[in-house]
Amino acid sequence: MPTSPSSTARSAASPSAAAKPQRNGPTAARISLLAVPLLAIALSRRRGPRVFTKAELAQYVDIKHGLKVAICGQVFDVTKGAEFYAKGAGYGFFAGRDASLAFATGNFKTNLTDNVSSLADAQLLDLQNWVNDTYHKKYVHEGVVAGYFYDAKGQPTEAHKDFDERVEKAREAAARQALDVEKYPDCASRRTQTERSVSCKKGRVPIRRRTETGTERCACVLERDEGLGAKYENCTVSEGGRTSCALG
Ligand code: HEM
Repeated sequence: MPTSPSSTARSAASPSAAAKPQRNGPTAARISLLAVPLLAIALSRRRGPRVFTKAELAQYVDIKHGLKVAICGQVFDVTKGAEFYAKGAGYGFFAGRDASLAFATGNFKTNLTDNVSSLADAQLLDLQNWVNDTYHKKYVHEGVVAGYFYDAKGQPTEAHKDFDERVEKAREAAARQALDVEKYPDCASRRTQTERSVSCKKGRVPIRRRTETGTERCACVLERDEGLGAKYENCTVSEGGRTSCALG
């Protein structure tokens, strides 16, 4: 059997080491003892996050087993939030499953599913905000659950990639919307028992302005910018120059 170059080099450099092998014993043992946990950590990192099946996740619905909630495929241990997620508590139906759709719609009876394909981009962003702002901040992340967002190997599904793109689009739209509101502030609104009205201070007029999500808001614009939206009818200007428009 050919000798490996490294072992030749070792014995040539240190002949005494070959003569007294027992001297290296404790050091080698220490190194190999250390290597075991390091190898385990390296392997677990390479393997990625723990992948739960839906059936496994469904076991974590009581304090004895621990409470887990999944959202957007991410599994969190929420045992410390038992006041919300224990059986019978206000949000107990979220335990042991990924009910992402219900997070967005608030329909806690029929939307207990991870399939969020019916949602609009802005709602997907709301969901991602739940993940980042509540769950990652407050609870321990434990892995992912195979389903709509991850496959059985814990890899993101095509649906997940589509979700990410749409969340990014929604984020950009929200940033544009914030700029729009800064430039053209919301109107003041007034509601009495008999009438509703919107108004803007002197120098500005109310218009119906389309938002990034396709809805409408009342924006106060400079008179020269009136064309940036539809005009209100039934508007009057007060002595102080305030323009108020009665709503039907
Ligand atoms: C789409 C509708 C809703 C969803 C998906 C939802 C979901 C949740 C969840 C998951 C929690 C627990 C968060 C945690 O673990 O820290 C929570 C907490 C809470 N929810 Fe809701 N909720 C909704 C609507 C509402 C409404 C309409 C109200 C009030 C009328 C409300 C009041 C509360 C309160 C007071 C807490 C406790 C907050 C705290 O102590 O930190 N929720 N909600």
